[in-house]
Amino acid sequence: MLLKRTHTCGELRIEDQSTEVVLNGWIDGHRDLGGLVFADVRDRYGVTQIVVDESDAAVSESMMQQAAKLRAEDVIGCRGFVRERESKNPDMPTGDIEIVVTELVVYSKSDVPPFEVKTDVQASDDLRLRYRYLDLRRQPLQHKLQLRSKVAHAIRAYYHEHEFAEIETPVLMKSTPEGARDYLVPSRVNAGAFYALPQSPQTYKQMLMVSGFDRYVQIVKCFRDEDLRADRQPEFTQVDVEMSFVDEEDIYSLHEGLMGHLWSTFMHVELPKTFHRMTYENAIHTYGSDKPDLRFGSPIVNLSETLSKTGFKLFDGAVAAGGHVLGLRIPGQGALGRGALDRFIDKVKQATGVPGVIYAKWTEEGVTSSVAKFLQDSDHEQIMEQTGSQQGDLVLILAGEGMQLFTHMGTMRLLAAEEWNLRETHPSSFGPWAFCWVTDFPLVEWDEEEQRYFALHHPFTSPHPEDVTQMDSNPGVVRSRAYDLVLNGSEIGGGSIRIHEQSMQRKVFDLLGISEKEAEEKFGFLLKAFSYGAPPHGGIALGLDRILMIMTGAESIRDVIAFPKNQRAQSLMDASPSSVSQEQLDELHIRLADGVTPQEVDEQAQDDES
Ligand code: AMO
Repeated sequence: MLLKRTHTCGELRIEDQSTEVVLNGWIDGHRDLGGLVFADVRDRYGVTQIVVDESDAAVSESMMQQAAKLRAEDVIGCRGFVRERESKNPDMPTGDIEIVVTELVVYSKSDVPPFEVKTDVQASDDLRLRYRYLDLRRQPLQHKLQLRSKVAHAIRAYYHEHEFAEIETPVLMKSTPEGARDYLVPSRVNAGAFYALPQSPQTYKQMLMVSGFDRYVQIVKCFRDEDLRADRQPEFTQVDVEMSFVDEEDIYSLHEGLMGHLWSTFMHVELPKTFHRMTYENAIHTYGSDKPDLRFGSPIVNLSETLSKTGFKLFDGAVAAGGHVLGLRIPGQGALGRGALDRFIDKVKQATGVPGVIYAKWTEEGVTSSVAKFLQDSDHEQIMEQTGSQQGDLVLILAGEGMQLFTHMGTMRLLAAEEWNLRETHPSSFGPWAFCWVTDFPLVEWDEEEQRYFALHHPFTSPHPEDVTQMDSNPGVVRSRAYDLVLNGSEIGGGSIRIHEQSMQRKVFDLLGISEKEAEEKFGFLLKAFSYGAPPHGGIALGLDRILMIMTGAESIRDVIAFPKNQRAQSLMDASPSSVSQEQLDELHIRLADGVTPQEVDEQAQDDES
């Protein structure tokens, strides 16, 4: 029998006293005091205490027995009256009341769950993933997924208000080059042929521009077979956008508006109307990263000029070889002891592979450094002056060659922020929501191993008009019209103004070493489409999961995805990927290589449990 609920478990207040209500939900906890059973009933809206009291005339003996047998995660319905609680619980929104039960239905009993469904769960990640449906009952995950639902709704509405057409694109498609490995799907009716799951709907959205849908949006699943990290999943969701007859400014302002709308609606924060912009080159040279975390200062300071003739081999040598001496001011850490500094430097060494880190400290006794015997007082003073340091500050220094020196500085900068809590102790003027556009990415990057250029973004990205003349002579310096949207050191979106002329597209393919034949095979359809009148166009894709991670403060992308994969791209809950029958393989014309037996996900999950 179903007792239809009149209220949710998060709804009732003292004003509802004496009202007859019906609640449905899961048993969150219970206490049997003998003849008096208290239980908490939970649904996604909250928790309400119910009481079954044998002295109540409405409570039969069988009902009392049922109540006494209630256990965590049983699903019940109950009817009763709202009563003021004797001992109120100020931590619960419903903590002033309880329901005096007159009718109880146990819809289903629960086995003992593998872990307690509570906010601060004590269980391994794998166990929680295996029982994801239980993990999802927990309030933190419920909140995150509910926010996800609301944010997705607001995003849709925003684009619709701006005249965008929401158009679905195929999931079974031809592989597009986004740089990661494709997930392939064999075709039964086309023996030996494969579809790819979209790494993004890039080519389709460009084709939609050719078709005249000048404003396209789609909230869409994308699939990439790449190494997983805390902010990467093999299947993730993009807010995918493409627009015709636009330039960078149109894309920027529309998305500044979107972010402003989301942050004011859900975070109750007013963002600046326009976001900071930084060229890729500047980002690398100042923050050692193309996704700079601007919540704190400590920019990289190039000390090469002043420290190139110190007589200290490491500095002089680096600069003479065309390298640099770079410094990073860490405010307030000048008094740090040797041990603490060494521990930090070990972390930097581990993360970057640098052989060592030099440091200079400005203490009450003056400025000194770990290489004091090689430097003059004036060198020390220069270090402090150029980095804008004050007494009490620490300066970390790396010397060496190549672009990597900057990225190592960037890594050290982030480690320092973590170590000394710089985001809180020395916040920048950006505050806690540091959005910025990183622009002017290089068009291509040289791959030493393969001895060829690769597109930094994708091959459809337009080169910067000022640099086109250098495409043949010096491709490495050619900038593109690609941009990333960065928030708090995380790349939350990326896009570009595209090439819309066949001739330029061919030129870029040439540069990338994609032969005419290969281009025809891989993207012939797009090139052909461009030959029938392609509008100038550009777009962006936002990483919805990453945006939600940041909005909810989640440490892992898995926390904002209902059914995520683990580190090995497995879903432990439904044991996928899994082996399939020989018949299925035969139908698909597939034979496994000799010696290959499928790794069973469920086997691993069993191991995790035991
Ligand atoms: P890009 O490859 O930069 O661009 O992807 C866009 C955004 O998607 C997010 N993202 C991911 N999120 C979670 N897990 C992943 N494995 C993952 N990979 C990417 C990031 C990223 O900024 N077609 C182009 C867009 C365009 O040019 O319009 C594209 O896919 O937040």
